[in-house]
Amino acid sequence: MKTTRISIRFLLIFALVAASVLRPAAAEECGIASAHALATKAGCEILKSGGNAFDAAVAVAAALAVVEPFASGIGGGGFFLLHRASDGFEVFVDARETAPARATREFFLGESATARPKASLEGPTAAGIPGEPAALDWIAARYGKLPLARSLAPAIRLAERGFPADARYASASAMREALLKNNAGAATTFLDSGKAAAPGFVVIQRQLARTLGMLADQGGYAFYHGDFASQLAQTVKSAGGLWELSDLENYRVIERPPLKLIYRGAKITTAPLPSAGGLVLAQSLFILESVNMAGLSGPDRAHYAVEAMRRGYHDRARYMGDPDFVAVPVAKLASREYAQRRGASIDPARATPSGELAQETQTADEGGDTTHFSIIDAHGNRVAATLSVNGPFGSGFVAGDTGVLLNNHMDDFGLVAGVPNLYKLVGSGANAVEPGKRPLSSMSPTFVEDDRGVFVLGTPGGSRIISMVLEGILDYVDQPQPDLARSVAAPRFHHQYLPDRIEIEPGGFPEQWVAAMKAKGHAVEVGRRKWGNMQAVFFDKKTGRIEVANDPRGQGGVLF
Ligand code: DON
Repeated sequence: MKTTRISIRFLLIFALVAASVLRPAAAEECGIASAHALATKAGCEILKSGGNAFDAAVAVAAALAVVEPFASGIGGGGFFLLHRASDGFEVFVDARETAPARATREFFLGESATARPKASLEGPTAAGIPGEPAALDWIAARYGKLPLARSLAPAIRLAERGFPADARYASASAMREALLKNNAGAATTFLDSGKAAAPGFVVIQRQLARTLGMLADQGGYAFYHGDFASQLAQTVKSAGGLWELSDLENYRVIERPPLKLIYRGAKITTAPLPSAGGLVLAQSLFILESVNMAGLSGPDRAHYAVEAMRRGYHDRARYMGDPDFVAVPVAKLASREYAQRRGASIDPARATPSGELAQETQTADEGGDTTHFSIIDAHGNRVAATLSVNGPFGSGFVAGDTGVLLNNHMDDFGLVAGVPNLYKLVGSGANAVEPGKRPLSSMSPTFVEDDRGVFVLGTPGGSRIISMVLEGILDYVDQPQPDLARSVAAPRFHHQYLPDRIEIEPGGFPEQWVAAMKAKGHAVEVGRRKWGNMQAVFFDKKTGRIEVANDPRGQGGVLF
């Protein structure tokens, strides 16, 4: 009798513990939101075979490199924001590309100081030294439980066997057909007999599978040193690019403390420089803190959000760059006092022309196609990662027979004074190109934590990443009930200081909204298409449940 009681009690306890520990991993989605079902599946496979969120992040990133070659890859870079549950340790793994030593301002200026050079957008001159291979190894070795080879296995399989192109692949390949045709490796792999691929076309990447296999066997070191690296540098160089073997040998992943702030009681953990995300978010949120956002009408709320963005992005343009190369007044830009001072010039009824902000004098101490996934595992470890090759299919250049498609992140530097880049951003000297320097980014993987739960979010979208993450945070914090699907799907508006106009998603805002904004003096422009592809995970502290949300915009079409 006694034995029976004990065993029943034991069984009950076991069931409860098992339910609490296993629920998220056992949930269909495994606590992973990524831009592609096959990448999410790769992460689930790794969690189920005993890996933690960090192993899953390696698996998801590597799988995305295969199935979303237009968005991110081992020829690119990005940022991983990690939270370790056992001790609360949080770190920002900076795997941003670096400029090769031969990359100079003069090279990119070329013969014209007024035009944006093609050299930063197309072909091998556009490519920075990739960071993703180093990051995969780094994260597996320091934070994972499984060997790198195990976590890379699903990606290698996908590259070898192929995967069917979806609508997003098809439109990205149509958009970049001309560029991809210029390079034999890119054309053979990513196009269908030299033409844009239709949905269903099977993309096979055997050379990439071999390179990923090399990483699995020999680790990230092999990408940056020895025969493979020499051959990679040589291939880029003989096609007119700027890489030397020493650029690869000198590449380092950098661990940085994340930028942390409190907005209305919610703990925000986000991207530090060389992403402008954290500082622009900090200024915007601190400005909005003194506004009764929840009590305002739609256009009034948007007016304040736009004015906050305008000021944050203004500072992006004038102060921000790689903190290892330029002095950026980070403490000041991230402070409440500074934000409140800047917010004081907001007129509740009228738009501030960006030209007026440009008149402000700088004080002496004031010195700037992608994918995102979010993971929360059963133990509470978290990852938010935004990874990129920049424009769709990056530089369009596949290096020799390595299968590695190179990024075009040199375009994220402020190359020509006053001339906007691919995302219409203008930059200052702080983001000028220099050997070894990281170009300023907008990628903003973010955690938001309050009494209700933990919200992990991020998105691609170039300069619009920061405004999307801001709107995601505002929706979560300012609404009485968290609603992940609503936060991710809500219509988006964007202002980035210059150009001086609010861009809105087509179909997202009623006429009255537009009229109310115009009445306040804002120029409003309807974007050609919707933007972003937010991937979010939410851990509900009350119920212990994990929810995931994929941006409905990611279901089809191009989102750049
Ligand atoms: O680092 C950045 O800010 C950009 N290179 C990100 C590019 C991007 O999000 C393109 N996506 N649609």
